[in-house]
Amino acid sequence: MASPKSLQQWFRHTFTPFIANAPMFGSADYHLASAVTKAGGLGFIGGGFDFTTETTQLTKLNEQLGKARSELGSIPSLTSLPIGVGFITFNPTGFIQNAIPVLQSHRVAGIWLSFPKSDEDHLLIIEAIKKARAEGDWDVRVFVQVGTIQSARVAVQQGADVLVVQGSDAGGHQWAQGASLISLLPEVRDMLHEMGASDVAVLGAGGIVDGRGCVAALGLGADGVVMGTRFLVTTECPTPSTFKHAIISGSDGGVSTVKSTRHDVFQSTDVFPRQYDGRAIIGISYSESQLGASDDDVIQRYKEAVANGEDHRRTVWAGTSIGSIKELVSVSDLIQGIHQEVRSTLASLSQKMQ
Ligand SMILES: Cc1cc2nc3c(=O)[nH]c(=O)nc-3n(C[C@H](O)[C@H](O)[C@H](O)COP(=O)(O)O)c2cc1C
Repeated sequence: MASPKSLQQWFRHTFTPFIANAPMFGSADYHLASAVTKAGGLGFIGGGFDFTTETTQLTKLNEQLGKARSELGSIPSLTSLPIGVGFITFNPTGFIQNAIPVLQSHRVAGIWLSFPKSDEDHLLIIEAIKKARAEGDWDVRVFVQVGTIQSARVAVQQGADVLVVQGSDAGGHQWAQGASLISLLPEVRDMLHEMGASDVAVLGAGGIVDGRGCVAALGLGADGVVMGTRFLVTTECPTPSTFKHAIISGSDGGVSTVKSTRHDVFQSTDVFPRQYDGRAIIGISYSESQLGASDDDVIQRYKEAVANGEDHRRTVWAGTSIGSIKELVSVSDLIQGIHQEVRSTLASLSQKMQ
């Protein structure tokens, strides 16, 4: 196992257990990420998927990082900005030339890579980040999100510092064929041991929304956790209030959410490579399609609704644990509450074992 201290050594402002928000593109902005960092977690901004010279995504990211720096002015930031940025990498063109200079100029503390078209795509990116790290005295760690044993093995061979092990209860995009954390995490942990790579830190992601889930992930071999869906329902998250309400009012996530490529089809965002799908709340489009509506009709109705400024047909990406999310809270209350619940759950477990 990675030394339990290593995450805290790399990210000195963080508390145990280590908590990060997922870099949810469009939902994890500088304000959410800064709140997570201020509360003793590691905040991530969703950086996007387009790294070409023409992109506006990197320009916006540059602005977001500047605002994060202002919000975190009071934190002694050592040599880095205690914020990470996550990227969707299935089209890596331009990443090395255009994204790395932005990240390096802000001296971000973490870079998260997810959803490559082929496993090999990350190799050149990771090598370039590590080269910039060595040459530029830049204290940055590489996070790679993985959803299978094979993707985890490749990420370690390519030099990932942190594996974000994503189980199939997760909200949003993920491996179409993958197991839940209870199977995946221990197998990844054993594999790291066999590879002699126990210095790689492991975070669990997928269905964790409270201290109980956090304890479970730690028990399965994680050094810390990542949450996406839970952070959507915080006061700092810019996601629409209709989406927050849909999550709070949802229950029985194994039934009320579904893992499918169809969510992207209905809103014309079907650009992910075929090894990935996504989990979302079953909404109007999905239900109409199940009842026999053609894709063309469903897409047309979606476009009309969006043109009218209506949210009700938009996909609400969310994980299976929505039934345990009962209220909108601030990021600091959420993180403090989880830390307390971890301690009380461990104490009651220890009592049960006596
Ligand atoms: C709304 C939403 C957007 C997401 N966007 C991204 C993304 O842009 N990049 C990424 O690597 N993962 C993304 N994810 C997946 C997360 O990284 C993470 O694996 C997931 O949120 C963990 O499961 P949970 O939602 O049950 O906490 C997203 C998840 C959600 C819910």
